[in-house]
Amino acid sequence: MSRIAYVNGRYVPHREARVHVEDRGYQFADGVYEVIAVQQGHLLDEKGHLDRLDHSLKSLRIPWPMSRRALQSVTREVIRRNRVRNGFVYMQITRGVARRDHAFPKNAKCAVVMTARHLKQYDAKAAKTVGVDVITIPDIRWERRDIKSVSLLPNILGKQQAVEAGAYEAWQIDDDGCVTEGTATNAWIVNSKRELITRDASHAILNGITRLAVLEVARKNGVTFVERPFTVEEAKAAREAFLTSSTNHVKAVTRIDGTSIGNGDIGELTTNLIDMYAERMERAGEPEA
Ligand code: PDD
Repeated sequence: MSRIAYVNGRYVPHREARVHVEDRGYQFADGVYEVIAVQQGHLLDEKGHLDRLDHSLKSLRIPWPMSRRALQSVTREVIRRNRVRNGFVYMQITRGVARRDHAFPKNAKCAVVMTARHLKQYDAKAAKTVGVDVITIPDIRWERRDIKSVSLLPNILGKQQAVEAGAYEAWQIDDDGCVTEGTATNAWIVNSKRELITRDASHAILNGITRLAVLEVARKNGVTFVERPFTVEEAKAAREAFLTSSTNHVKAVTRIDGTSIGNGDIGELTTNLIDMYAERMERAGEPEA
């Protein structure tokens, strides 16, 4: 079945989907995006993603291209036309098409693109058996990482460095020697006191929707957690580590820069959190509280 993309009001075959050469997303990375997981035909944490989209748009003073409700129906239509039951929706909103000039254009209409892709359903059992390696790299990004901007050059360079090192992800390190986040994921550790630690939400990281979901299940299940920066040394000395995102969900990290985490196996708390998260995911179709 051929894929369908939504481009500025039209549903078009994916291979014919085009934006103008003077789209400001293309010329300046002047735009924002969201990736929302689809689980058994349902959007995972749609509200959280749309609230974060609102935050990103407001931060960059890009107006909503349509009402929230209209965007929700386009999202459903893109999922339906692509027959995605498990996978994700990608949406991108840029400041629009205008003659190249750094200042905001006066009358540009923001541009919207949406695609959907099939992915294998999250396999909690596999997630509890296989961990991944991460490397650490300096965080060379700007100071507003809370905005989900399409400007991802440092992230893609970091991810490529990880791939070339035979690792899955790169954790970025700030000037104080603390982990900010991965190139497309949030970072977590469990220390020797069995405390779950992830960096606090600030301008330093993207406040992941999966991050919030894991905090929610931790809270509900009485797991103690601390939101604070942690150093690379703490991470390497941790009992457990894992990463989260809308496409990875919860994935154990078993090595950082070649150092085994804990005894090199996936830890007990990570295993429990994978189960709690998977159970929450199962309820994706139920109305949000
Ligand atoms: N990435 N940090 C960064 C820098 C990210 O790009 C992402 C998501 C996350 C996790 O956020 P969430 O849990 O809301 O997916 C953290 C998406 C999936 C991407 O760029 O493909």
